[in-house]
Amino acid sequence: MKKMLNNVKTLFVTCRQFGDTGKGKIVDASADWADLIARGNGGDNAGHTMCNTRGKLVTHLVPSGILYDEFKKINLICSGTVIYPKTLLHELEELTQRGFSYNNLRIAFNAKLITPAEVALDRIRESSSGKGKIGSTGKGIGPAYADVVDRQGLLINDLLNPDIFYIKLKRHLEYKQKILKNYPAQLVQEVLFQEHLNFGQYFHAHDIFDVDAIFEQYIKYGIELKPLISDTDSFIRASLGKLNILAEGAQGDLLSIKYGTYPYVTSSDCTVAGLAEGIGLTKNDVDLSLGIIKGFYMTRVGGGPFPTELGGQVSDDWCNGGKSNRKIETEIYSQASINDADNEFLQGVALRRFGDEYGATTGRPRRVGWLDLPLLRYVMTFNKPDIVLTKLDVLNNFKTIKICHEYVYEGPPIYYAGKFIENGSVLQVAIPDAAILSYCRPSYTSFSGWQCDLSGCTDFASLPKELKFILEFVVEETGILPRAISIGADREETIYL
Ligand code: IMP
Repeated sequence: MKKMLNNVKTLFVTCRQFGDTGKGKIVDASADWADLIARGNGGDNAGHTMCNTRGKLVTHLVPSGILYDEFKKINLICSGTVIYPKTLLHELEELTQRGFSYNNLRIAFNAKLITPAEVALDRIRESSSGKGKIGSTGKGIGPAYADVVDRQGLLINDLLNPDIFYIKLKRHLEYKQKILKNYPAQLVQEVLFQEHLNFGQYFHAHDIFDVDAIFEQYIKYGIELKPLISDTDSFIRASLGKLNILAEGAQGDLLSIKYGTYPYVTSSDCTVAGLAEGIGLTKNDVDLSLGIIKGFYMTRVGGGPFPTELGGQVSDDWCNGGKSNRKIETEIYSQASINDADNEFLQGVALRRFGDEYGATTGRPRRVGWLDLPLLRYVMTFNKPDIVLTKLDVLNNFKTIKICHEYVYEGPPIYYAGKFIENGSVLQVAIPDAAILSYCRPSYTSFSGWQCDLSGCTDFASLPKELKFILEFVVEETGILPRAISIGADREETIYL
């Protein structure tokens, strides 16, 4: 890692897939080098799992550098993020209980505030959407970003000015109330009594939202957060070229509001450009940007097209069904095997279990599928080539590994960006529009897997020949430049190339 970071002052770590590719491990490996670690997009929809000698920690908002509190790393939650204070304060409380200090944490005064009305709207909309829903995390992310653009949003700094806050909040809630009056009153009430919304603390029988109750609670949050609130944009600009800056992405390129599989995306721009803007910099300030992908498989949480999904629609229904979870899955599908080529759904269950592919934020089973080169080629059109492949150990002992090398479009004729796509068209590069992607049938190249454990591998030469062969194929087909391969959860289980 040290060699790779020679002459680098600003490092970005973002995901080139649908999130959950193990950014945390690479961020952790670079944390020694970093002076400053910044989050710049998304909110508590993200879940970052980190392990080091002090144990395992899952954070949703606080940057991973917090694990290195004894080295006084500066952690920033920057202006591009959306913050639900309840989650943030809960996270800070947990850090204190676990013996971590957050003295070096700063929160952007101009980060966006998530209100109970935004959380409620997200959940109510999702419950009413039926098939084809986005499958959001229910944290209010979409409504919060929408309100920013609609000029109805509130900022973290508003918490520090009670009089102004009250006026803005009242206007914000009145606006939301009008929208929520269109939904069944019982559903609205049920949602407002959920734990994430403080069990009805904000509910008003007539007005839906109790302005005073929300105001009082949020002002209390403001008092607690005040010592941490500052101008992170200016700080990070002043640090450019002086401190080692590590920007930690959330979600992934394919979930980006700008470049993802729209409309099945999150509401922030998760790409390098979006993250740069979210921390107060530009794309040109980035010295090295590492894109993370899973080694030869992929996952997706929530709704949206996923051409290589093992088990297709059956898997989608199961993972988004709400009833499925790890325990149930283990009981019902105890016989699932990755080498059961006759049942792709069960192959998927087995892969999910091996890879521990259950959401860090929602606990939902992640949909799993083979590596999709048309999607990878697509993200490489707007990224630098440097890639880290993670979780390769998950595929140990697979008899066959399949890679999707192209799609055949099998849908109604459609115009896209000046091109006519008809039934039978072959696509080498994915078109991210969900209306097209959902009709793309993957064509696969099959490879023999490696029938061994990767734990003994210490360098590229010691990797099994089957793995190297597949990697060469992916490199040739997509032009990626592999910089590291992760073969286990521990920091040492990383091979730098
Ligand atoms: P939202 O960000 O909660 O609005 O969810 C929008 C979509 O992004 C849903 O499909 C979520 O499952 C997905 N999503 C949001 N955050 C993450 C993440 O951290 N990892 C993977 N998927 C995510």
